[in-house]
Amino acid sequence: MAETAPRFSGPKRVFSGVQPTGNLHLGNYLGAIRKFVDLQEDQEALYCIVDLHAITVAQDPEALRAQTREIAAAYMAAGIDPQKAIIFHQSAVSAHAELAWIFNCVARMGWLERMTQFKDKAGKDSERASVGLFDYPVLMAADILAYKATHVPVGEDQKQHLELARDIAGKFNKDFHAEDFFPLPEPLIKGPGARIMSLKDGCAKMSKSDPSDLSRINLTDDAAMIAKKIKKAKTDAEPVPENVEGLKGRPEVENLVGIYSALSGQSVEEVLAAYGGQGFGVFKPALAELAVDKLAPISEEMRRLQNDPAFLESQLEAGAEKANAIAVPILREVKQIVGFVV
Ligand code: TYM
Repeated sequence: MAETAPRFSGPKRVFSGVQPTGNLHLGNYLGAIRKFVDLQEDQEALYCIVDLHAITVAQDPEALRAQTREIAAAYMAAGIDPQKAIIFHQSAVSAHAELAWIFNCVARMGWLERMTQFKDKAGKDSERASVGLFDYPVLMAADILAYKATHVPVGEDQKQHLELARDIAGKFNKDFHAEDFFPLPEPLIKGPGARIMSLKDGCAKMSKSDPSDLSRINLTDDAAMIAKKIKKAKTDAEPVPENVEGLKGRPEVENLVGIYSALSGQSVEEVLAAYGGQGFGVFKPALAELAVDKLAPISEEMRRLQNDPAFLESQLEAGAEKANAIAVPILREVKQIVGFVV
Protein backbone atom coordinates (compact mmCIF):
# COMPACT_ATOMS: atom_id res chain seq x y z
CA MET A 1 0.00 0.00 0.00
CA ALA A 2 1.11 3.51 -0.74
CA GLU A 3 2.86 5.38 2.03
CA THR A 4 2.38 8.87 3.38
CA ALA A 5 5.26 11.20 2.45
CA PRO A 6 7.82 10.36 5.10
CA ARG A 7 8.67 13.98 5.85
CA PHE A 8 5.16 15.35 6.17
CA SER A 9 5.03 16.29 9.81
CA GLY A 10 1.40 17.33 10.24
CA PRO A 11 -1.13 15.38 12.28
CA LYS A 12 -2.70 12.14 11.14
CA ARG A 13 -6.10 13.10 9.78
CA VAL A 14 -8.80 11.02 8.10
CA PHE A 15 -11.04 12.32 5.31
CA SER A 16 -13.64 10.59 3.17
CA GLY A 17 -16.85 11.34 1.35
CA VAL A 18 -20.06 9.84 0.02
CA GLN A 19 -22.21 11.25 -2.79
CA PRO A 20 -25.81 12.20 -1.94
CA THR A 21 -27.19 10.46 -5.00
CA GLY A 22 -29.69 8.09 -3.37
CA ASN A 23 -29.75 4.32 -2.95
CA LEU A 24 -27.02 4.03 -0.34
CA HIS A 25 -26.20 0.31 -0.38
CA LEU A 26 -24.34 -2.50 1.33
CA GLY A 27 -21.20 -1.76 -0.72
CA ASN A 28 -21.12 1.83 0.53
CA TYR A 29 -21.59 0.56 4.06
CA LEU A 30 -19.02 -2.23 4.07
CA GLY A 31 -16.51 -0.53 1.76
CA ALA A 32 -16.61 2.88 3.40
CA ILE A 33 -19.04 3.94 6.15
CA ARG A 34 -18.30 1.07 8.51
CA LYS A 35 -14.60 1.92 8.32
CA PHE A 36 -15.40 5.57 9.05
CA VAL A 37 -16.96 4.51 12.35
CA ASP A 38 -13.84 2.64 13.51
CA LEU A 39 -11.48 5.40 12.41
CA GLN A 40 -13.22 8.19 14.33
CA GLU A 41 -11.87 6.78 17.59
CA ASP A 42 -8.15 7.36 17.16
CA GLN A 43 -7.64 10.58 15.21
CA GLU A 44 -9.36 13.59 13.80
CA ALA A 45 -11.78 12.51 11.07
CA LEU A 46 -13.89 14.44 8.56
CA TYR A 47 -16.76 12.75 6.73
CA CYS A 48 -18.15 14.80 3.93
CA ILE A 49 -21.36 14.59 1.92
CA VAL A 50 -20.08 15.50 -1.51
CA ASP A 51 -22.93 17.46 -3.05
CA LEU A 52 -20.60 19.29 -5.47
CA HIS A 53 -19.63 15.90 -6.89
CA ALA A 54 -23.29 14.88 -7.11
CA ILE A 55 -24.11 17.69 -9.57
CA THR A 56 -21.59 16.39 -12.12
CA VAL A 57 -24.68 14.58 -13.39
CA ALA A 58 -28.19 16.12 -13.38
CA GLN A 59 -29.94 16.20 -9.98
CA ASP A 60 -33.36 17.31 -8.90
CA PRO A 61 -32.70 20.16 -6.39
CA GLU A 62 -35.25 19.02 -3.78
CA ALA A 63 -34.16 15.40 -4.05
CA LEU A 64 -30.51 16.47 -3.68
CA ARG A 65 -31.29 18.28 -0.45
CA ALA A 66 -33.24 15.29 0.90
CA GLN A 67 -30.46 12.89 -0.11
CA THR A 68 -27.87 15.08 1.60
CA ARG A 69 -29.86 14.75 4.82
CA GLU A 70 -30.22 11.03 4.15
CA ILE A 71 -26.44 10.55 4.07
CA ALA A 72 -26.12 12.56 7.28
CA ALA A 73 -28.71 10.24 8.83
CA ALA A 74 -26.88 7.17 7.50
CA TYR A 75 -23.55 8.37 8.90
CA MET A 76 -25.04 8.86 12.35
CA ALA A 77 -27.21 5.73 12.26
CA ALA A 78 -24.14 3.67 11.37
CA GLY A 79 -22.37 5.00 14.45
CA ILE A 80 -20.50 8.15 13.46
CA ASP A 81 -20.68 10.48 16.41
CA PRO A 82 -20.74 14.18 15.43
CA GLN A 83 -18.97 14.95 18.71
CA LYS A 84 -16.03 12.79 17.61
CA ALA A 85 -15.96 13.18 13.83
CA ILE A 86 -16.83 16.17 11.66
CA ILE A 87 -19.86 15.51 9.45
CA PHE A 88 -20.64 18.21 6.88
CA HIS A 89 -21.69 18.93 3.31
CA GLN A 90 -19.07 19.89 0.78
CA SER A 91 -20.85 22.96 -0.66
CA ALA A 92 -20.77 24.61 2.79
CA VAL A 93 -16.96 24.85 2.72
CA SER A 94 -15.88 26.91 -0.28
CA ALA A 95 -12.23 25.89 0.15
CA HIS A 96 -13.05 22.67 -1.75
CA ALA A 97 -14.04 24.50 -4.92
CA GLU A 98 -11.28 27.11 -4.62
CA LEU A 99 -8.55 24.54 -4.11
CA ALA A 100 -9.99 22.45 -6.96
CA TRP A 101 -9.42 25.38 -9.30
CA ILE A 102 -5.80 25.70 -8.23
CA PHE A 103 -5.37 21.94 -8.66
CA ASN A 104 -6.93 22.18 -12.13
CA CYS A 105 -3.86 24.16 -13.02
CA VAL A 106 -1.56 21.53 -11.49
CA ALA A 107 -3.16 18.33 -12.83
CA ARG A 108 -2.48 17.37 -16.44
CA MET A 109 -5.08 16.49 -19.07
CA GLY A 110 -3.35 13.18 -19.71
CA TRP A 111 -3.73 12.18 -16.05
CA LEU A 112 -7.48 12.73 -16.17
CA GLU A 113 -7.89 11.10 -19.54
CA ARG A 114 -6.66 7.86 -17.98
CA MET A 115 -9.39 7.76 -15.33
CA THR A 116 -11.45 4.64 -15.92
CA GLN A 117 -14.44 5.84 -13.88
CA PHE A 118 -14.93 8.81 -16.19
CA LYS A 119 -14.86 6.48 -19.18
CA ASP A 120 -17.42 4.19 -17.51
CA LYS A 121 -19.71 6.99 -16.41
CA ALA A 122 -19.51 9.08 -19.56
CA GLY A 123 -20.00 6.01 -21.75
CA LYS A 124 -19.79 6.30 -25.51
CA ASP A 125 -21.11 9.83 -25.61
CA SER A 126 -18.32 11.51 -23.62
CA GLU A 127 -18.67 14.71 -25.68
CA ARG A 128 -21.96 15.30 -23.89
CA ALA A 129 -20.64 14.61 -20.37
CA SER A 130 -20.27 17.65 -18.13
CA VAL A 131 -16.82 19.19 -17.69
CA GLY A 132 -17.43 18.60 -13.98
CA LEU A 133 -17.65 14.84 -14.51
CA PHE A 134 -14.26 14.89 -16.23
CA ASP A 135 -12.83 17.04 -13.44
CA TYR A 136 -14.40 14.96 -10.66
CA PRO A 137 -11.11 13.43 -9.41
CA VAL A 138 -9.44 16.86 -9.14
CA LEU A 139 -12.23 17.99 -6.81
CA MET A 140 -11.66 14.79 -4.83
CA ALA A 141 -8.00 15.70 -4.42
CA ALA A 142 -9.07 19.15 -3.21
CA ASP A 143 -11.51 17.60 -0.72
CA ILE A 144 -8.75 15.59 0.87
CA LEU A 145 -5.94 18.10 0.71
CA ALA A 146 -7.98 21.10 1.90
CA TYR A 147 -7.52 19.44 5.28
CA LYS A 148 -4.05 17.98 4.61
CA ALA A 149 -5.71 14.63 5.31
CA THR A 150 -3.25 11.76 5.50
CA HIS A 151 -5.60 8.75 5.36
CA VAL A 152 -8.62 8.10 3.15
CA PRO A 153 -10.91 5.11 3.76
CA VAL A 154 -12.63 4.12 0.49
CA GLY A 155 -13.78 1.11 -1.50
CA GLU A 156 -11.57 -0.48 -4.15
CA ASP A 157 -13.23 1.51 -6.97
CA GLN A 158 -11.65 4.74 -5.70
CA LYS A 159 -8.06 3.49 -5.88
CA GLN A 160 -7.19 5.26 -9.13
CA HIS A 161 -8.68 8.54 -7.90
CA LEU A 162 -6.56 8.34 -4.77
CA GLU A 163 -3.44 7.78 -6.86
CA LEU A 164 -4.31 10.93 -8.78
CA ALA A 165 -4.69 12.86 -5.50
CA ARG A 166 -1.19 11.73 -4.53
CA ASP A 167 0.16 12.82 -7.92
CA ILE A 168 -1.46 16.24 -7.57
CA ALA A 169 -0.11 16.69 -4.03
CA GLY A 170 3.38 15.69 -5.15
CA LYS A 171 3.35 17.95 -8.22
CA PHE A 172 2.07 20.92 -6.24
CA ASN A 173 4.83 20.46 -3.65
CA LYS A 174 7.43 20.20 -6.40
CA ASP A 175 6.18 22.96 -8.72
CA PHE A 176 5.96 25.49 -5.91
CA HIS A 177 9.08 24.34 -4.08
CA ALA A 178 6.85 23.73 -1.09
CA GLU A 179 8.38 20.42 -0.11
CA ASP A 180 6.13 18.38 2.16
CA PHE A 181 3.44 21.08 2.24
CA PHE A 182 0.78 18.55 1.28
CA PRO A 183 0.94 14.97 2.54
CA LEU A 184 0.63 12.19 -0.05
CA PRO A 185 -2.70 10.80 1.24
CA GLU A 186 -2.76 7.10 1.89
CA PRO A 187 -5.77 5.09 0.74
CA LEU A 188 -7.27 2.70 3.30
CA ILE A 189 -8.88 0.09 1.09
CA LYS A 190 -7.92 -3.32 2.40
CA GLY A 191 -10.28 -5.52 4.34
CA PRO A 192 -13.42 -7.51 3.60
CA GLY A 193 -16.06 -5.38 1.93
CA ALA A 194 -13.67 -3.31 -0.22
CA ARG A 195 -15.40 -4.57 -3.35
CA ILE A 196 -18.98 -5.80 -2.95
CA MET A 197 -20.46 -7.06 -6.18
CA SER A 198 -23.98 -7.00 -7.63
CA LEU A 199 -26.33 -9.73 -6.37
CA LYS A 200 -27.26 -10.37 -9.99
CA ASP A 201 -23.79 -10.40 -11.55
CA GLY A 202 -20.67 -11.32 -9.60
CA CYS A 203 -18.48 -9.49 -12.12
CA ALA A 204 -20.19 -6.08 -11.78
CA LYS A 205 -19.82 -3.98 -8.65
CA MET A 206 -22.85 -3.29 -6.48
CA SER A 207 -23.86 0.18 -7.59
CA LYS A 208 -26.37 2.95 -6.92
CA SER A 209 -26.95 3.33 -10.61
CA ASP A 210 -27.74 -0.31 -11.47
CA PRO A 211 -31.26 -0.19 -12.96
CA SER A 212 -32.21 -3.40 -11.10
CA ASP A 213 -33.00 -2.78 -7.44
CA LEU A 214 -32.57 -6.54 -6.88
CA SER A 215 -28.85 -6.10 -7.63
CA ARG A 216 -28.19 -4.31 -4.35
CA ILE A 217 -29.21 -4.25 -0.71
CA ASN A 218 -30.14 -0.67 0.13
CA LEU A 219 -29.56 0.64 3.63
CA THR A 220 -33.23 1.61 3.65
CA ASP A 221 -34.50 -1.91 2.79
CA ASP A 222 -36.61 -3.56 5.47
CA ALA A 223 -36.05 -7.12 6.72
CA ALA A 224 -38.47 -8.71 4.25
CA MET A 225 -36.85 -6.94 1.31
CA ILE A 226 -33.33 -7.91 2.39
CA ALA A 227 -34.38 -11.56 2.71
CA LYS A 228 -36.11 -11.46 -0.69
CA LYS A 229 -33.08 -9.99 -2.44
CA ILE A 230 -30.71 -12.55 -0.94
CA LYS A 231 -33.08 -15.37 -1.83
CA LYS A 232 -33.17 -14.13 -5.42
CA ALA A 233 -29.41 -13.54 -5.61
CA LYS A 234 -27.71 -15.36 -8.48
CA THR A 235 -25.83 -18.56 -7.55
CA ASP A 236 -25.18 -21.84 -9.32
CA ALA A 237 -26.25 -25.45 -8.89
CA GLU A 238 -23.20 -26.55 -6.84
CA PRO A 239 -23.13 -26.39 -3.02
CA VAL A 240 -21.01 -23.88 -1.07
CA PRO A 241 -17.36 -24.96 -1.57
CA GLU A 242 -15.28 -26.25 1.31
CA ASN A 243 -12.20 -24.13 0.67
CA VAL A 244 -11.12 -20.85 -0.91
CA GLU A 245 -9.82 -22.67 -3.98
CA GLY A 246 -13.40 -23.80 -4.68
CA LEU A 247 -14.56 -20.17 -5.05
CA LYS A 248 -12.52 -19.74 -8.23
CA GLY A 249 -14.68 -19.17 -11.29
CA ARG A 250 -17.79 -18.72 -9.10
CA PRO A 251 -17.93 -14.91 -8.69
CA GLU A 252 -21.51 -14.78 -7.36
CA VAL A 253 -20.76 -17.38 -4.69
CA GLU A 254 -17.51 -15.66 -3.80
CA ASN A 255 -19.43 -12.41 -3.38
CA LEU A 256 -22.08 -13.90 -1.06
CA VAL A 257 -19.42 -15.62 1.04
CA GLY A 258 -17.46 -12.34 1.12
CA ILE A 259 -20.54 -10.46 2.32
CA TYR A 260 -21.09 -13.04 5.05
CA SER A 261 -17.45 -12.70 6.08
CA ALA A 262 -17.57 -8.89 6.11
CA LEU A 263 -20.81 -8.76 8.10
CA SER A 264 -19.89 -11.44 10.61
CA GLY A 265 -16.24 -10.54 11.14
CA GLN A 266 -15.28 -14.15 10.35
CA SER A 267 -12.62 -14.94 7.77
CA VAL A 268 -13.70 -16.44 4.44
CA GLU A 269 -12.05 -19.72 5.56
CA GLU A 270 -14.17 -19.75 8.71
CA VAL A 271 -17.36 -19.13 6.72
CA LEU A 272 -16.48 -21.98 4.34
CA ALA A 273 -15.65 -24.27 7.26
CA ALA A 274 -19.14 -23.63 8.64
CA TYR A 275 -21.14 -23.85 5.39
CA GLY A 276 -18.92 -25.81 2.95
CA GLY A 277 -20.83 -28.68 1.36
CA GLN A 278 -24.24 -27.20 2.20
CA GLY A 279 -26.70 -25.99 -0.41
CA PHE A 280 -27.80 -22.40 -0.89
CA GLY A 281 -31.14 -23.36 0.67
CA VAL A 282 -29.19 -23.33 3.94
CA PHE A 283 -26.60 -20.63 3.28
CA LYS A 284 -28.92 -17.93 1.90
CA PRO A 285 -31.33 -17.88 4.87
CA ALA A 286 -28.33 -17.73 7.23
CA LEU A 287 -26.90 -14.80 5.26
CA ALA A 288 -30.28 -13.07 5.19
CA GLU A 289 -30.61 -13.42 8.96
CA LEU A 290 -27.13 -12.02 9.51
CA ALA A 291 -27.71 -9.11 7.10
CA VAL A 292 -31.03 -8.23 8.75
CA ASP A 293 -29.42 -8.47 12.16
CA LYS A 294 -26.66 -6.00 11.20
CA LEU A 295 -28.58 -3.65 8.91
CA ALA A 296 -32.08 -3.41 10.40
CA PRO A 297 -30.97 -1.31 13.42
CA ILE A 298 -29.19 1.08 11.03
CA SER A 299 -32.15 1.50 8.70
CA GLU A 300 -34.49 1.93 11.65
CA GLU A 301 -32.31 4.66 13.14
CA MET A 302 -31.96 6.29 9.70
CA ARG A 303 -35.73 6.48 9.40
CA ARG A 304 -36.00 7.98 12.87
CA LEU A 305 -33.37 10.63 12.14
CA GLN A 306 -34.86 11.49 8.77
CA ASN A 307 -38.07 12.47 10.50
CA ASP A 308 -36.17 15.41 11.95
CA PRO A 309 -34.65 17.33 9.01
CA ALA A 310 -34.01 20.41 11.15
CA PHE A 311 -31.83 18.37 13.51
CA LEU A 312 -29.88 16.85 10.62
CA GLU A 313 -29.30 20.26 9.05
CA SER A 314 -28.16 21.72 12.37
CA GLN A 315 -25.61 18.91 12.69
CA LEU A 316 -24.33 19.61 9.17
CA GLU A 317 -24.04 23.32 9.86
CA ALA A 318 -22.08 22.71 13.05
CA GLY A 319 -19.82 20.29 11.18
CA ALA A 320 -19.26 22.78 8.35
CA GLU A 321 -18.14 25.39 10.85
CA LYS A 322 -15.52 23.02 12.26
CA ALA A 323 -14.42 21.97 8.76
CA ASN A 324 -14.05 25.61 7.71
CA ALA A 325 -11.90 26.29 10.75
CA ILE A 326 -9.39 23.71 9.49
CA ALA A 327 -9.58 24.43 5.75
CA VAL A 328 -9.52 28.24 5.71
CA PRO A 329 -5.97 28.65 7.14
CA ILE A 330 -4.65 25.87 4.87
CA LEU A 331 -6.19 27.54 1.81
CA ARG A 332 -4.68 30.85 2.89
CA GLU A 333 -1.24 29.24 2.97
CA VAL A 334 -1.85 27.72 -0.46
CA LYS A 335 -2.74 31.15 -1.84
CA GLN A 336 0.42 32.56 -0.35
CA ILE A 337 2.51 29.78 -1.92
CA VAL A 338 0.87 30.22 -5.34
CA GLY A 339 1.53 33.95 -5.33
CA PHE A 340 -1.88 35.46 -4.72
CA VAL A 341 -2.10 38.63 -2.66
CA VAL A 342 -3.54 37.49 0.68
P1 TYM B 1 -19.69 7.14 -3.72
O1 TYM B 1 -20.81 7.85 -3.08
O2 TYM B 1 -19.88 6.63 -5.10
O3 TYM B 1 -19.24 5.91 -2.82
C1 TYM B 1 -19.04 6.08 -1.43
C2 TYM B 1 -18.05 5.04 -0.93
O4 TYM B 1 -18.58 3.71 -1.12
C3 TYM B 1 -17.59 2.90 -1.75
N1 TYM B 1 -18.26 1.90 -2.59
C4 TYM B 1 -18.06 0.59 -2.50
N2 TYM B 1 -17.28 -0.15 -1.69
C5 TYM B 1 -17.33 -1.50 -1.83
N3 TYM B 1 -18.11 -2.14 -2.75
C6 TYM B 1 -18.91 -1.43 -3.58
N4 TYM B 1 -19.68 -2.05 -4.46
C7 TYM B 1 -18.91 0.00 -3.47
N5 TYM B 1 -19.56 0.98 -4.13
C8 TYM B 1 -19.16 2.15 -3.57
C9 TYM B 1 -16.76 3.88 -2.57
O5 TYM B 1 -15.49 3.34 -2.87
C10 TYM B 1 -16.70 5.08 -1.65
O6 TYM B 1 -15.66 4.90 -0.71
N6 TYM B 1 -15.78 9.60 -5.27
C11 TYM B 1 -16.28 9.13 -3.99
C12 TYM B 1 -16.74 10.25 -3.09
C13 TYM B 1 -15.66 11.23 -2.72
C14 TYM B 1 -14.53 10.99 -1.93
C15 TYM B 1 -13.83 12.22 -1.84
C16 TYM B 1 -14.05 9.85 -1.28
C17 TYM B 1 -15.62 12.54 -3.09
N7 TYM B 1 -14.52 13.12 -2.56
C18 TYM B 1 -12.63 12.35 -1.14
C19 TYM B 1 -12.85 9.99 -0.56
C20 TYM B 1 -12.16 11.21 -0.50
C21 TYM B 1 -17.35 8.08 -4.27
O7 TYM B 1 -17.15 7.17 -4.99
O8 TYM B 1 -18.49 8.18 -3.66
